[in-house]
Amino acid sequence: MIPVITIDGPTASGKGTIAHRVGQALGWSVLDSGALYRLTALAVRDGGIDPADELAVASIAGRLDVCFDGGRIWLAGRDVAAQIREEPIGNLASQVAAYGPVRQALLARQRAFRRAPGLVADGRDMGTVVFPDAPLKIFLVASVQARAERRCKQLKEKGFSANLAGLLQDMRARDERDRSRIHAPLSAAPGAKTIDSSNLTIDATVDAVLDYWSR
Ligand code: CDP
Repeated sequence: MIPVITIDGPTASGKGTIAHRVGQALGWSVLDSGALYRLTALAVRDGGIDPADELAVASIAGRLDVCFDGGRIWLAGRDVAAQIREEPIGNLASQVAAYGPVRQALLARQRAFRRAPGLVADGRDMGTVVFPDAPLKIFLVASVQARAERRCKQLKEKGFSANLAGLLQDMRARDERDRSRIHAPLSAAPGAKTIDSSNLTIDATVDAVLDYWSR
């Protein structure tokens, strides 16, 4: 069976960065599952779909015309890698990710990323739902303050405007939605190793994951 390392955790806990670095170190593919929810949100917004209409949103999710190419992400022939990182799209993604039919529509697409020699998959339910047989499951956490500060810095580096107080508020709301939703609520998978990255550098966090993998 092709091995998978799952990295789940709350918003802005650093999952994406860590997943890419671990993928690079091992020479494995990487799945950024949050991007699929963000792409769904973008397609909903651009298509003028009512975000409250679960089945219409799920239908869009099932028909996403998407291509991942290195750091680029194409949606219906348009490079949207930067656009899907905007905060309003993140907030809409969090809203549509609560819908069971949307999660179902994206399941097979996520599993198709499992290719030799291995996959590092980051998200909320990689270890609990999408790859329950993964030999290593990581639950990556950090304090809400540390996460808001990181997200603020990241947005400013990308040229977006960012406000720490607003981000803290959004982050708490997103945490609450992730934890309290009925479908795939955020929780550590059975057997997952928890890493708290509040006071860890990126290198130290990557090393901690690789260390678990080599045991
Ligand atoms: O980390 P952040 O919340 O900024 O974004 P993300 O990881 O790109 O995910 C975008 C949204 O999709 C999140 O708000 C999650 O609620 C949702 N998501 C999910 O429900 N399941 C996943 N496997 C990945 C993301």
